[in-house]
Amino acid sequence: MKGIILAGGLGTRLFPLTKITNKHLLPVYDKPMIYYPLQTLVEAGIEDIMVVTGGNHAGDFLRLLGNGDEFGLKGINYAYQEKEGGIAEALNLAEHFADGDKIIVILGDNLIEKSIKNEVKEFSGQKAGARILIKEVSHPERFGVVEFEGDKIINIAEKPKKPKTNYVVTGIYMYDSQVFEFIHSLEPSGRGELEITDVNNMYLSRGQLSYSKLDGWWTDAGTFESLHRASQLVAEKHG
Ligand code: G1P
Repeated sequence: MKGIILAGGLGTRLFPLTKITNKHLLPVYDKPMIYYPLQTLVEAGIEDIMVVTGGNHAGDFLRLLGNGDEFGLKGINYAYQEKEGGIAEALNLAEHFADGDKIIVILGDNLIEKSIKNEVKEFSGQKAGARILIKEVSHPERFGVVEFEGDKIINIAEKPKKPKTNYVVTGIYMYDSQVFEFIHSLEPSGRGELEITDVNNMYLSRGQLSYSKLDGWWTDAGTFESLHRASQLVAEKHG
């Protein structure tokens, strides 16, 4: 399985911090943000990794991560996103790299407490389809929100005003090679982006979306509040 870290975007919710650098290079406690999702993939046994980024600071990723020696990697692949078009559009740049293999995608601002080795193993054994990781949170309206019938997911709504549950889709997604066909058929959403939630709903409508509930804490770090929280959680973890 190959790993893809999505680290593009303008990070406008963090202005002026992101005026002179990319969000994923900002500090979270004692390390640049992107170290955490990279570590998550490496710990899960993923060795073949691509970082997708864009904007004016893309070269800084190369300077920071280089060939990934610090993480025990033999090399890191990079892709450059010319314009901001959403998560699914960024992922599309990894099609050539994926080359028909299964992939695990992690958003560069998603931090988790525990290893996802077991979830990755489960998906390796899954014949086809996709697997998402979900988490119960107190403010679901900021995320993709999951709706259930019994314990089956029946819909995912992107940032609904009135969330049907408190379970949200974290920024860790596992896909088979169909994902790129689905992305090619997407239309931009109301906010002008190719939405990853639409991709997940396509898997769902084909009966090919499975999920696991994530163990331990999870946070994104794309707002001042969550960036601060992320630093606190990491600091506590280091004890
Ligand atoms: C994105 C996705 C959302 C998901 C979230 C996880 O939102 O669109 O479905 O729940 O990542 O971090 P964003 O925060 O990029 O707007």
